[in-house]
Amino acid sequence: MNPILVRPADMVRITTPALADKYIESQISALREQIGDKKVLLALSGGVDSSVVAALLIKAVGRQLVCVHVNHGLLRKGEPEQVIKVFRDEMKADLIYVDATDRFLDKLAGVTDPEQKRKIIGGEFIEVFAEEARKLDGIEFLAQGTIWPDILESEAGIKAHHNAGGLPEDMKFELVEPVRILFKDEVRIVGKQLGLPDNMVFRQPFPGPGLGVRCPGAITRDRLEAVRESDAILREEFEKNGLEGKVWQYFTVVPDFKSTGIKNGKRTFDWPCIIRAINTTDVMEVTVEHLSDVLIDHLVKRITTEVPGINRVLFDYTPKPPATVEYE
Ligand code: XMP
Repeated sequence: MNPILVRPADMVRITTPALADKYIESQISALREQIGDKKVLLALSGGVDSSVVAALLIKAVGRQLVCVHVNHGLLRKGEPEQVIKVFRDEMKADLIYVDATDRFLDKLAGVTDPEQKRKIIGGEFIEVFAEEARKLDGIEFLAQGTIWPDILESEAGIKAHHNAGGLPEDMKFELVEPVRILFKDEVRIVGKQLGLPDNMVFRQPFPGPGLGVRCPGAITRDRLEAVRESDAILREEFEKNGLEGKVWQYFTVVPDFKSTGIKNGKRTFDWPCIIRAINTTDVMEVTVEHLSDVLIDHLVKRITTEVPGINRVLFDYTPKPPATVEYE
């Protein structure tokens, strides 16, 4: 068993390369001791946390790591393609790609309760991993990108983070969670020290339940597509305007209500698209990024003309607390 499961009260915050190196060194020996000559299966979402976990495990146990990238149909535009390119082609990882879109969306159809949605997504994830593991020989461990705020918020009963839960009784995997005791800013420093590219280490976080929590209420394929397309436009515009890597997290939400609009002289009855852009260091408290008027006008124009089903754009200027970052 990995002996470090709880963040020690006196643990020094990792703010320097030297402290990160020390953490990496201790984790590599802890991982080697925990895993031995067995194989580890990693849920590689392509986000910062699981990418850093992958890099740590590659360093610690090399080809004993098998990465599984599950496309649950709730990923951002172009994301599965990018994960395959970076990890399989460039980092030469042993990567299995599973397209489980229909399976997830069928299970989620008609489900409105946020916690129920998270549980379904988390539960299906574990099922998919188990199926992949059964096809492989000698998998005994399941690696996860759980971080310290996930544990704190689960314990406080705020949210059931899918990656902070235990495995079903019948499953024989032991958990490997090498960034479990780290805050987000610490994970990034560790990732950089592990030699991961900047665009991976400093990319904005993306929740495990993906666009599912940005399509509040019952997920439908058309509204999910509106979230995905508007998110792609927002990311493109942030990149063009030099905000990528500067603003901590930014995304769109398409709520499940419609309002009246007008297009080409005809009445429309479509969804609004909400834009949220925030800054933080540890996600316990966040502030809002105020966008320029020019960018706001441009985003409104692009999203209302290019995204089917959207006739209105709203901006969420609420800090955390009182609002959480995500809508569900
Ligand atoms: P909240 O909404 O809790 O979000 O203020 C804080 C940060 O955590 C991300 N987030 C999640 N990440 N699984 C994850 O891996 C989840 O279930 C989850 N929920 C929220 C969120 O995007 C933000 O960065």
